[in-house]
Amino acid sequence: MRNLYHAARASAWYLARLPVIRQLRCLQFRRLQPIGNGRQRGTPIVRLRLLRREVWSCCYPRLGRVYQRARCGLPRKIWRSALAFKSNWLTLPLIRHLRCVQFRRLQPIGNGRQRGTPIVRYYWDRYLEAHKADIRGTALEIGTTETIRRFGGIAVTRAEAIDLSLHSPEVTVVADLSRADNAPSDHYDCFVNQFTMHLMYDAQAALYHSVRILKPGGVLLINFSCVDYYFPRGLDMGTGEPMFVYRWFTPIQVENMLRSLNLGPEDYTLDIYGNVFTRIAYQMNMPAEELTERELGFIDPGHPLLICVRVVKSADWRADKPDYRTPWKPGVTPAQWNRVRGHYAT
Ligand SMILES: C[S@@+](CC[C@H](N)C(=O)[O-])C[C@H]1O[C@@H](n2cnc3c(N)ncnc32)[C@H](O)[C@@H]1O
Repeated sequence: MRNLYHAARASAWYLARLPVIRQLRCLQFRRLQPIGNGRQRGTPIVRLRLLRREVWSCCYPRLGRVYQRARCGLPRKIWRSALAFKSNWLTLPLIRHLRCVQFRRLQPIGNGRQRGTPIVRYYWDRYLEAHKADIRGTALEIGTTETIRRFGGIAVTRAEAIDLSLHSPEVTVVADLSRADNAPSDHYDCFVNQFTMHLMYDAQAALYHSVRILKPGGVLLINFSCVDYYFPRGLDMGTGEPMFVYRWFTPIQVENMLRSLNLGPEDYTLDIYGNVFTRIAYQMNMPAEELTERELGFIDPGHPLLICVRVVKSADWRADKPDYRTPWKPGVTPAQWNRVRGHYAT
């Protein structure tokens, strides 16, 4: 009987330390008295460090050695599959639901460390997949040529990139898109302008040049962020200049920008992706893999996350060049982009 009691207590102790249970227990925090009315249970946190060392070395010397060996000597392959299992495990239905308990927090999940596919990228990939027939001939992209090559394949005969500096051999046009008077008119069959419009102060001028450089019949595939991480000190991606977030977009704002460039409904289609949950999940850094198809596919026009537009330039398109306006920029040291933390670079 006594053994049974000890076994039950030990399992409760282990269970209470499982990540999910730990998080669920935070639900108890909305209260006016300490948990258990202050009755002492377990080890006070201030004493835990000292004790942990003693417990591991004295009580479980073998277990400690096995753990160390597993950490240091486990073949890379097994370690990788363990990690893969961990991420699959996070997509199980019950776990997916429980993970939303994590949303009551002040920093994005994993401190912004990138895992899986960001939800906006998932939407954009779906959009490009549906319009990949447009990505062909002489095609242009911002920063790299990776997307146009991936979706266009052999239909792309010449892949070019535009950016603020010559930071890679793929960049063939060095220009600020919102001042791109030096880029030739009527030149490209397709321009994929992705995840950049919110970074341009003169978004209207950038949109004007995005259409101007297309051949008649050429296609602009462009997206507009409705919500995203704000770079408090700007972000340096090593691509020429630190970037600042000047705005996020609404569908009506985008339509107004298109119409003021003499583009009518016969020239463009506008699609919205997202809903209230994907907006929150994206901002909380939850990857698309952890959402269901239904959650991702549900479109709520009242809570857009990404606006995707396809413009076909007509042969008689004409528009006045918008007036250029110069933004004020703060004189601060920008955050440095890195692969692991992505935009949460600091
Ligand atoms: C967030 S990335 C988006 C594009 C990237 N290929 C991607 O898919 O994530 C922003 C890129 O746009 C470029 N950029 C920012 N402002 C620009 C501007 N005014 N004109 C041209 N490129 C700009 C940056 O240098 C950077 O390479």
